[in-house]
Amino acid sequence: MIRSVVRGVGQALPRKVMKNAEFESLVDTSDEWIVQRTGITQRYIAAEDETTASLGEAAARAALDDAGLSPADIDLIILATSTPNNTFPATAVEIQERLGMRHGFAFDMQAVCSGFVYAVATADTYIRGGMAKRVLVIGSETFSRILDWTDRTTCVLFGDGAGAIVLEAQAGEGTRSDRGILSASLRSDGSHREKLFVDGGPSTTGTVGHLRMEGREVFKHAVGMITDVVEDALAQGGITAEELDWFVPHQANKRIIDASAKKLGIADDKVVVTVHLHGNTSAASVPLALAAAVADGRIKEGDYVLLEAMGGGFTWGAVLLRW
Ligand code: UT7
Repeated sequence: MIRSVVRGVGQALPRKVMKNAEFESLVDTSDEWIVQRTGITQRYIAAEDETTASLGEAAARAALDDAGLSPADIDLIILATSTPNNTFPATAVEIQERLGMRHGFAFDMQAVCSGFVYAVATADTYIRGGMAKRVLVIGSETFSRILDWTDRTTCVLFGDGAGAIVLEAQAGEGTRSDRGILSASLRSDGSHREKLFVDGGPSTTGTVGHLRMEGREVFKHAVGMITDVVEDALAQGGITAEELDWFVPHQANKRIIDASAKKLGIADDKVVVTVHLHGNTSAASVPLALAAAVADGRIKEGDYVLLEAMGGGFTWGAVLLRW
């Protein structure tokens, strides 16, 4: 059978780092509160010339370099984002153009913080269905543009950045020994949409709007939803939590990450954490964490890796793969 194997990984971050202390002059908050409640110490903030497209392009180029491939080798680009450069066309086609690609096809995928996990699962179905051989899957966000910088309950949490992987069709045996994506589990439930949303849009207000979140409500659901899809993906893939080599969760809050790993029985030293450095970068958070753990040599060929995310919608999902 055909498997979708990761050939390369890349990342891109804006030039400017913003430390927690810088919020103390903007809103009624403190470095201590932000660190204690979230684990975040800093985040990256895009300058005017840094956009979802430019960051996504940079991450894509890094992933292609890592794979030893060029844009000519790619036949599909899926960009996970909730902060596109324009309402339309898809920012994915802008990245396609920036990469000099005049072949193949490209589209955006919008599942907020779960976007990258949704996009990886979608790319896998295109690959296994034979419609694509090599797919660039990108998560790129500029959430700083949709934050209400006067709302201390949200503005301290998010950051900008991009991560990308190249997935390639390779022959497998159909067993858990294959490299590549072994299973995926995706969920959504729109009855929660008002707990985390943006209060604007083309068809309603005609504006872009700002992010609004009932943080405590999101927190309450997060651990249960995450563990459900992770357990489903593990069961489908025939892997136990103890057999996992790396848990790469969505980076929203260190407390959510810790509670999820504990409930799943995954040891702390198998959990990849970057939330302290990046804040919550929505669809970029999982590929940014993945890129960090590959670059420093933690994730190696043959390792079992579990990606998971949960966010606005609510949407949530998990992907199990063998590196
Ligand atoms: O990526 C998509 C998914 N999103 C998430 O996973 C986010 C989930 N939620 C969370 O991570 C947490 O709920 C937050 C980090 C957003 C908040 O942490 P919390 O422990 O749930 O705090 P809370 O909302 O219960 O607020 C506790 C107190 C409140 O004051 P009172 O009512 O106790 O007087 C807040 O007003 O902390 C106050 N507060 C702040 N204080 C200082 C809220 N934000 C801040 C702030 N600085 N930035």
